[in-house]
This record gives sequence, C-alpha cells and structure tokens, in this order.
Amino acid sequence: MKDWIYNEFKHVGVDYSQKENAEIYDDQMESFRDYENEAKLIIDGCGFKNPENSTVIDIGCGTGAFAIHAAKYFKKVYAVDVSKEMLHIAKSKAKVKGIENIEFCNSGFLQFQLNTEVDLVFSKWAFHHLPDYWKQAALLNINKMLKMDGVFFLTDLIFKFETDYVKKTDTMINELSKSFSEEFISEIKVHIKDEYSTFDWILRGLIERAGFCIEKINAVETLASEYFCRKVRSF
Ligand SMILES: C[S@@+](CC[C@H](N)C(=O)[O-])C[C@H]1O[C@@H](n2cnc3c(N)ncnc32)[C@H](O)[C@@H]1O
Repeated sequence: MKDWIYNEFKHVGVDYSQKENAEIYDDQMESFRDYENEAKLIIDGCGFKNPENSTVIDIGCGTGAFAIHAAKYFKKVYAVDVSKEMLHIAKSKAKVKGIENIEFCNSGFLQFQLNTEVDLVFSKWAFHHLPDYWKQAALLNINKMLKMDGVFFLTDLIFKFETDYVKKTDTMINELSKSFSEEFISEIKVHIKDEYSTFDWILRGLIERAGFCIEKINAVETLASEYFCRKVRSF
C-alpha cells in the first residue's frame, strides 16, 4: 500500500477497537434507538421489488444494528467494519439468531472491495471517521461496488450552520442535553472536537461528484441527516 494512504484502522475520537467501548455500545444506543424498526423503515423506503434477490453492503456496521435485521430481507449482506471488537459482537448476535447470510469483513470504506456489484450500500454514523479528502475516496470506492441505479443510503452526523459556530454549537449541545445522558453528551463533545463530521453542503458536493444523484435528504435529528442517493454515473 502507498505510504500516503490514510490509515482507516486508526480510530479517531471514540475508539471502537477497544473492547469496553464495543461492549457498552448496544446498551447506549438501544436506550434511544429501535434497530429493527430503523432497518425496516429504511428498507421499505428504498423500494426494492425483490429484496430477496438483492445484495447489500453495510459499511461501518458496528454491532450489526442494520446488518442483522437487513439479513432477514436481503439475499446477502456484507457487514464491514474496521473494529474487530464491534464485528465480534455483531457475529455473536447473528449466531444466536441463526442468521447465515451475512459475510463479516474486517475492512473499511477505503479498503473494502468486491468482485461483484451490489444493489444497496448502506452506512450509518460511520462516515465522519474519515477526513473530507478520504470521504471522497470512499465515495468513489462505493460507486465501484454499486450497480448502476443502485441505492446508496448514508446517514451521518453533519453540521448545517455556516456562521456563528460557537453559539450554534452551544445551542445544539444544550438541546441534546435535554434528551441524552451526560455520558452521551461527552461523546458528542469528543465527536465535535476530534472526529470529522462535515457540513451538509460539503457532503452533498462530495456525493454528487462521486457519481450519485441525491434523491432525498431527511434531517432526522439535531445532528443527523439521511441521504438517499442513486448511482447515475460510473468512472
Ligand atoms: C458509531 S458506530 C456506528 C455503527 C452502526 N453503523 C450503527 O448504526 O450503530 C461507528 C462504526 O464505524 C466504524 N468505523 C470507523 N471508521 C471506519 C472505516 N474507515 N471503515 C469502516 N468502518 C469504520 C467503527 O469501528 C464503528 O463500529
């Protein structure tokens, strides 16, 4: 590998390669997320006619929040993550549920490659682990692995303001503090300080330049947005 390539296995901000962070993840998330319902809503929204004949990649799959439920609908799911600890939990959950159509891959946005093209690439709350240059590289890699007209569904924590960032960031943190634990708010602060969430206008530009048409954007929470995109161009 070239010596200037970004090391995506080196975690920035929250270190998901650490067992203790992986082990508390589901408890923390499931206090405000319903993984099964989330997956169903996304899959219904994608409008696949024959999901049982379709294949999916979930990049930054973590403990399998989407992959495990998506496996019930799709023919095959590739669950990709740079953290062996997160994958270990996802694999154990799949085993307990008797799910056999998930291939777990210890890889990342930049490195992962497939010989075949899939129908859906999904990623939730993982893309901000890459700086913007590498987000563009990752999007071009996703383009290569997706069929023409295939769906790219990205959810991430992004910023929407452009001026007065101190006041807007304080307001955002205060707003989130009303609904979330102190521990979670500390993670949000680490997220803002050390991770690479970008602005909505930058992300839209990156996505479009990588050969996707953004069909819909849902601003789901204070910090999160969903981008429903379709591949319209190959390179
Ligand atoms: C906040 S968790 C999100 C997990 C899951 N998608 C969910 O919805 O709960 C972020 C995940 O992204 C993974 N990650 C970080 N950088 C990555 C990269 N370059 N490629 C793939 N996964 C990455 C982390 O290991 C972690 O499991």
